[in-house]
Amino acid sequence: MALMSVLTPALAAVLCLVIGFILLKSREPETQTSSTKAPGKDFRPWVDQDLQDDTETTAREDEDDGWVDSGEEDLPHVPYTPRRYPQETMLQRSHEFYALMNQRRSVRFLSPEPVPREVIENVIRTAGTAPSGAHTEPWTFVLVSDTETKHQIRLIVEEEEEVNYRQRMGDKWVHDLAKLRTNWIKEYLDVAPYLVLIFKQTHGLLSNGKKKTHYYNEISVSIACGILLAALQNAGLVTVTTTPLNCGPQLRLLLKRPVNEKLLMLLPVGYPASDATVPDLKRKPLDDIMVHI
Ligand SMILES: Cc1cc2nc3c(=O)[nH]c(=O)nc-3n(C[C@H](O)[C@H](O)[C@H](O)COP(=O)(O)O)c2cc1C
Repeated sequence: MALMSVLTPALAAVLCLVIGFILLKSREPETQTSSTKAPGKDFRPWVDQDLQDDTETTAREDEDDGWVDSGEEDLPHVPYTPRRYPQETMLQRSHEFYALMNQRRSVRFLSPEPVPREVIENVIRTAGTAPSGAHTEPWTFVLVSDTETKHQIRLIVEEEEEVNYRQRMGDKWVHDLAKLRTNWIKEYLDVAPYLVLIFKQTHGLLSNGKKKTHYYNEISVSIACGILLAALQNAGLVTVTTTPLNCGPQLRLLLKRPVNEKLLMLLPVGYPASDATVPDLKRKPLDDIMVHI
């Protein structure tokens, strides 16, 4: 009995400590933001917080209510007979296409000279020919030529990019970019006649409010972006591939895009400025990028 009367206050004190610790823990935020996270082994600042590849297949099994299947039960199949070239022509065409694409460079100095709208529309049509997971075509290309909207985009991007460069990216990334002489000043966002903002649709939103799974949406949209870059090159236009870190939500609101769309890429498009320069980069030779087994 005497032992119990000594132990009870001690047990109560320990219990209070444990409860206090649990309460404190539960108040801590679950994740740290990229601007506060200290650089460490797992520091990956280039992973945009708004850009998870979230093909929502698991959600469908648990809560089937809000989701629909594609609906097309029996799609007719039609003959496909694309043009076939003699080997010599194939060789020539493949070489010419390589030569064209090898001329492509990321250009950060653009001319304000107007570009025919129809050319840009054809380029975007071409991007829309990309393959996509289960033919879901999970992309939206927002074409901006309005001067004020371009400027608003520049303000958002420059504000976030300054924080990216000064805080989020970390010394190593900033150091790796130094040779490209990039920084948070993005004059081309005002100057380029067109900005193309490419959004991935994480899922489809149907008019009846149901959702449709967009399988591999990020891979699909990335392929479309690659085709778009090739089409721009083919038309004699230039761009620079940009992925402005943590600007997605603000740009989505500015451009009045729905919640299922996330910004993947922002491309200023136009002719190069007459005094444009590019870093003198070299590309890896075939032996370094291909393994033939
Ligand atoms: C996914 C991706 C993101 C990029 N982001 C940027 C960017 O934010 N700003 C920029 O100036 N260049 C950006 N670039 C362009 C690269 O710096 C450029 O492609 C690389 O230096 C090679 O140069 P090249 O495109 O002239 O061959 C990006 C390229 C890729 C593929």
